[in-house]
Amino acid sequence: MDRQNLETVLMENRKFVPSDEFKKRAHISSLDEYFTRYRKSIDDPEKFWGSIAEELHWFKKWDRVLNEEDAPFFKWFENGKTNISYNCLDRHLETGVRNKAAIIWEGEPGEQRVLTYWDLAREVNKFANALRNLGIKHGDRIAIYLPMIPELAIAMLACARIGAIHTVIFAGFSAESIRDRVLDCDARMVITADGGWRRGNVLQLKNIVDEAIQECDCVKDVVVVKRAHGDPFPCHIKEGRDHWYHRIIDEVSAVCPPAEVDSEDLLFLLYTSGTTGKPKGIIHTTGGYMVFTYLTAKYVFDLRPEDVYWCTADIGWVTGHSYIVYGPLANGATCLMYEGTPNWPDKGRFWNIIEKYGVTVFYTAPTAIRTFMKWGERWPEKYDLSSLRLLGTVGEPINPEAWIWYNKIIGGENCPIVDTWWQTETGGIMITPLPGCMDTKPGSATYPFFGIDVTVLNESGEETEAGFLAIKKPWPGMLRGIYSDAKRYKETYWSKWPDVYFPGDGAKKDSDGYYWILGRVDDVVNVSGHRIGTAELESIFVEHETIAESAVIGIKHEVKGQALVAFVSLKEGVKASPELEGELKHWVVKKIGKFAIPERIIFAADLPKTRSGKIMRRLLRDVSEGRALGNITTLADAAVIDDLKAKYEEG
Ligand code: WT7
Repeated sequence: MDRQNLETVLMENRKFVPSDEFKKRAHISSLDEYFTRYRKSIDDPEKFWGSIAEELHWFKKWDRVLNEEDAPFFKWFENGKTNISYNCLDRHLETGVRNKAAIIWEGEPGEQRVLTYWDLAREVNKFANALRNLGIKHGDRIAIYLPMIPELAIAMLACARIGAIHTVIFAGFSAESIRDRVLDCDARMVITADGGWRRGNVLQLKNIVDEAIQECDCVKDVVVVKRAHGDPFPCHIKEGRDHWYHRIIDEVSAVCPPAEVDSEDLLFLLYTSGTTGKPKGIIHTTGGYMVFTYLTAKYVFDLRPEDVYWCTADIGWVTGHSYIVYGPLANGATCLMYEGTPNWPDKGRFWNIIEKYGVTVFYTAPTAIRTFMKWGERWPEKYDLSSLRLLGTVGEPINPEAWIWYNKIIGGENCPIVDTWWQTETGGIMITPLPGCMDTKPGSATYPFFGIDVTVLNESGEETEAGFLAIKKPWPGMLRGIYSDAKRYKETYWSKWPDVYFPGDGAKKDSDGYYWILGRVDDVVNVSGHRIGTAELESIFVEHETIAESAVIGIKHEVKGQALVAFVSLKEGVKASPELEGELKHWVVKKIGKFAIPERIIFAADLPKTRSGKIMRRLLRDVSEGRALGNITTLADAAVIDDLKAKYEEG
């Protein structure tokens, strides 16, 4: 357990009580009701989840809600047949939801598009038929590299409709990252756009894809959405391989019968960083994920028919999968989707959008909130934010100061805040307040969601007040594995303690039973909500011809939550210089993407190691955070750390 995390967490004991008005209308309106239902969901999960699943459409009902025989390879809704696109679309077409906005979209330059459930269903059916025409079949993997435009949601739903497996790659990733992911899952197609808008510029996505797939023989077709229209850069269309999206959906039927897929058929892969090696393809399957995102979206965001719900995440991350696309649409909700950055054309863009569309539920990340704080209250104050009734956060622990600011300046002290803890691997929200029935404490994710059996354990698996977060029972939205690496799945998540899931976070439980998540306890760093494995970055550095060794650590950062610091030692004869530093940053952009550039790169003569050769990261963290050095008795060469410290303080 990372000592630092435990010591520095700020425990806020102030309680915030939801208003009577919110309480009265909430789906779950009293703590008693929560506890009663929670108890039932834990005592008889099959009954609980079975009855929730009944609210959705199944072509054939499951034989068994949960099969644990082959643990940790759990099966949910075994032998059930369903289709998540049917549940997100068709299911609503015979109700009043048919003509309701499913997606309200705003492009960064300011265009608007509204797709009703009917419109969205037509688009998805057409694109699904176009995919079939290109030979895409059930089980094929399709990589999606798109900006935040409606076609991104359409593409995912179209894949799901025909049983193809999507893997969305965040549009900030480099060509090499795309290549690695495409090769890992043997993707048959890439769906991209000519470009996407970001802070007034066009990201040239198609060109990046062209570079990425040069070495990918598995990719037979590339579909290109026209988004950047005639902006002055070339978008090369390779005859026979590349297809304009608008051409292939022209003149295809708007009726594509949904594939009746098995509950455990793969819905998507999403790559995320771990503590070792390359990013891993997290597997999510259909039935359980659908039921879990449906229920969590409904209760955590307390969705009502009239809500305009806005999650500011990019769909390239799991938050967007579960809480822009699948969860809200399964509930027939209206989702706002915005393409660009919050400071374009000025720092009031988000608040302008909230006012313009009357957003009622707003879900964002602590790092964004801290950025807004830095920009100042005058931006939100210019706009009428009174439509808001509920706020949420996700991605990292929220510091009480940011929580209080969010509550006051954005929420007008009149909106409950749901601080939702979960992960790519969990598929959906695991620990969270249910608004209306729970008092909140700034910085605490409060209680577990229905069916989630949480505890805090020490290294040897005994319950403790502060230690490692642990999940004792399977849940429907859980990952089913790591793509083509069953061993890594077992080792990473199920080997710390027998039959218990280990998420990699530290946690504390207070005397009210509230959970406080303290951040990662492994070598994963959370920079502005982007997960980066230090080992992954280290191996990228040593691939560079000038570098002998490297150690990357995460340090606290006022806005980003955490930032990366890289310590590198150079090969014989190589000299440290600002140019080399620039080149190394460029190297990281090429290998991963801009978001992974370290805050600082320190050129060190040597790295602090134990006598057995293990790098002592703890000392590097002490140096970087300006603390007195911890125990250095195991250090092989004490002079190394003094040299490092001097270098760090110089820069
Ligand atoms: C890690 C998962 C879940 C979607 C976004 C990130 C941290 C996430 C919280 C929270 C404290 C949080 C954890 C977790 N995290 N939400 N509310 N409070 N920490 O998904 O990239 O898979 O990262 O984000 O450390 O393990 P991810």
